Amino acid sequence: MLSHFQIHPVSFIRAMSKALELSSTGISKHHRRTAIISRYIGMNLGISQNQLQVLIYASLLHDIGAAANWDEKHFIAHTDEDNLVFNHAETGYCILKDSARLGVLAEPIRYHHDRFCGGNPSGLVGTEIPLLSRIIHVADRIEVQIDDSQHIFRQRDKIISNLEKNIFFDTEIIKVIRDMSKIDAFWLDIVNIDYVNNFINTLSFFEKLLFDLNDMISIAEIFAKVVDATSPFTATHSNNVAKVSKELARVLGFSEQETDQFYLAGLLHDLGKLAIPNKILNKRGKLDNDEYEIIKQHPYYSYRIMEEVDGFQTIASWVGTHHERLDGSGYPFKLKSAQISFGSRLLAVADIYCALIESRSYRDGMTIDHALEVMNEMVREMKLDVNIVNVLRQHTELLYALIQKK
Ligand SMILES: [Fe+2]
Ligand SMILES: [Fe+2]
Ligand SMILES: [Fe+2]
Repeated sequence: MLSHFQIHPVSFIRAMSKALELSSTGISKHHRRTAIISRYIGMNLGISQNQLQVLIYASLLHDIGAAANWDEKHFIAHTDEDNLVFNHAETGYCILKDSARLGVLAEPIRYHHDRFCGGNPSGLVGTEIPLLSRIIHVADRIEVQIDDSQHIFRQRDKIISNLEKNIFFDTEIIKVIRDMSKIDAFWLDIVNIDYVNNFINTLSFFEKLLFDLNDMISIAEIFAKVVDATSPFTATHSNNVAKVSKELARVLGFSEQETDQFYLAGLLHDLGKLAIPNKILNKRGKLDNDEYEIIKQHPYYSYRIMEEVDGFQTIASWVGTHHERLDGSGYPFKLKSAQISFGSRLLAVADIYCALIESRSYRDGMTIDHALEVMNEMVREMKLDVNIVNVLRQHTELLYALIQKK
């Protein structure tokens, strides 16, 4: 397998976890902090290194089932008591269960809101609930109680006493937490942003196994689906862009390994869209200025998240610049023609072609002729690469057939 596609899982899972933390005002810390707390609990319970690794990865992705739905994201941050909290846990399970690499995380995530006292849709009660799920549940509920405007030491007693009053949690785990709570470093780790960012780097020894290209593609496909689920109008967009970019790269003469990179870039180009509320993505009619500003952040976040993955710098640079235009009118870097790579130009052409063929909230999908007319106009305005659009035109039927419209 290609050396630049032998990627350490930690590097990729951390990036995907950050994508789940995107909001319209930045990147929050819920998953990473939950993972830090889970790790402390797991170590204090003396679980094996192997289980600890699964626990940390599952914690980093535990709310993946809510990432595409802003109402649900908001709701689970504020309550654990409504039975609707089970929905995102089940969705997360469904998203991950068939994954060769991440399937092992599906079960702990499925039961991460199951109550120790019972009354769960799963029918599980007490220690029938998987241990890792019980740990994530408690860690999650510690994290959501933290108020960043107050010193953490002034909050810890209240956080612990709130847990102790609640019959939802494993009493053995609560005992462990009561002891951990006396350790200042435990609390300081949770609020120390440098540690929150870097703690996962200290975990590299957990797994020597590297992800290869096929692993990366299958995980990127999962995240592409999460991104596309943010709006019914983009239900297949990332997948379409992946297929069209790959094929366009192939007919342009790129090697197989390069066309696979375009496939990955297509899958992940809109990862930063997880920062855009559904109501903006689904809005019928013209966006106002504030809404457009929020939309424009998405390639920036796609870039900053992907560039953290070792070996992903080229792909990150393509995804981060897929809205740059050759006349300098694009965003978010305001690049000029000479600064825009061929890969970026190719991805931009594939993205626009797919977007025009697909339906949107404000218009139906276009015919091939109409889409090409729009793209020719963009070439005349010096926005798109003329050579790539010409190749697209020569192969337009073939590329059109790859696009799933509904
Ligand atoms: Fe959750
Ligand atoms: Fe959570
Ligand atoms: Fe985009």
